[in-house]
Amino acid sequence: MKSLPAVPEEFADAMEPPGNPTWRPMTMADLRTVPDLDALCQPHPWGPANFQGELLRGESGFSWVGELPETGPVAYICAWTVLDELHVGNIGVSPSWRRKGLARTLLARTHQWAKSRGANFAHLEVRAGNSAAIALYESIGYRRVGVRRAYYADNNEDALLLVADL
Ligand SMILES: CC(C)(COP(=O)(O)OP(=O)(O)OC[C@H]1O[C@@H](n2cnc3c(N)ncnc32)[C@H](O)[C@@H]1OP(=O)(O)O)[C@@H](O)C(=O)NCCC(=O)NCCS
Repeated sequence: MKSLPAVPEEFADAMEPPGNPTWRPMTMADLRTVPDLDALCQPHPWGPANFQGELLRGESGFSWVGELPETGPVAYICAWTVLDELHVGNIGVSPSWRRKGLARTLLARTHQWAKSRGANFAHLEVRAGNSAAIALYESIGYRRVGVRRAYYADNNEDALLLVADL
């Protein structure tokens, strides 16, 4: 594969955003709330069984939440490593908590974890029309490397394949 630009240093050292939630690993107890948050974020949300499957990955999985005492989880990510690859499977932020740097913080933590496990690059798929997510990923060094035509069965939307060096 062609060499890709590395994730910028300033992103790797990302400051925690103001009014910061507490960050912690997702637990089985979160299966009561995180699927509802996912339903606010995704056109085709995961069910509790999908999140449970992520928690059962053990050491190869990284599922974390950011939570506030008053509201519980407001942001989540599910990612995993296979050999030297990180795959980001799901990420979402409560609509009322967007544009505060929470997704960027979650991705920074995820990349840090993946690098500590020997991952050299990250990849993910994103709906071609999801301009917010594409802007997020491109702002931290992901590059478009391919398209899966009509990948999403609900509306035949293309998936963009994005990759970043870690
Ligand atoms: C995509 C998503 C996770 C971004 O979460 P967020 O916490 O608001 O993102 P951040 O505040 O960390 O944004 C970081 C950068 O991403 C880009 N960005 C994020 N949302 C954007 C938007 N709506 N429009 C344009 N750029 C955006 C900006 O460059 C932003 O930096 P800036 O605020 O300094 O300009 C959130 O919009 C979301 O949950 N969407 C629904 C779920 C989803 O699409 N998940 C991804 C599936 S692949």
